[in-house]
Amino acid sequence: MDSEAIKQQKAQVGQEAVQYIEDGMVVGIGSGSTMWYMVEALGKRVHEGLNIVGVPTSKATRKHANELGIPLKTVDEVDRIDLTIDGADQIDEHYQGIKGGGASHLMEKIVATNSTKNMWIVDESKMVTAFNYPVPVEVIPYGSTQLERRLDRLDLQPKLRKNAAGEFVTTDSNNYIIDLYLDPLDDPKELAHILDPLVGVVEHGLFLDMVNTIIVQHATGPEVINV
Ligand code: 5RP
Repeated sequence: MDSEAIKQQKAQVGQEAVQYIEDGMVVGIGSGSTMWYMVEALGKRVHEGLNIVGVPTSKATRKHANELGIPLKTVDEVDRIDLTIDGADQIDEHYQGIKGGGASHLMEKIVATNSTKNMWIVDESKMVTAFNYPVPVEVIPYGSTQLERRLDRLDLQPKLRKNAAGEFVTTDSNNYIIDLYLDPLDDPKELAHILDPLVGVVEHGLFLDMVNTIIVQHATGPEVINV
């Protein structure tokens, strides 16, 4: 699929998802380019009178939603989150997800685990049989090169993420990202068990058994999957 078609599907699914937001809801607002379209559409509905509170999952989403006049609170200021809508980097055939391509998965996972329902919105290129996308791991900067070596000894193909200028990418929480280039990734649950106890790991981008609804945008229209 060419990038223009993907962009169009992202815009369509972003607009589609807003229909699931009801008056009075507290809504977790994910991050990334697909969510950019959702936030634009949500801003229009708020302008027309929809009464919601949004909980953004990144500084970029907070800024965007704020500019559109969407009322916002932090995850610690709300007593519940009814529905979180977010993008994903890949979704496998068991409806497990990889997130964090945009380095926001720590806050996204905190908001997701505090939500009654979670919805992912994706273009059809994100749906795969088995994962073949690097797994992002947010790590504390102190000792991150040692941690990268340790992950290498575990054969997890790690690489500290750098930007175009060759500097370490820093997350909204001032941490670094190590990407694990595992292709294919056969057993995401086993990988999560390896990563979870490692000192220096803050959170990985494997979102396992977390989603309730997926909207996949095809050229022919949206497909709604209730998990
Ligand atoms: C950010 C994320 C995004 O949801 C994911 O990277 C998808 O982004 P996009 O919609 O730009 O393809 O997890 O950390």
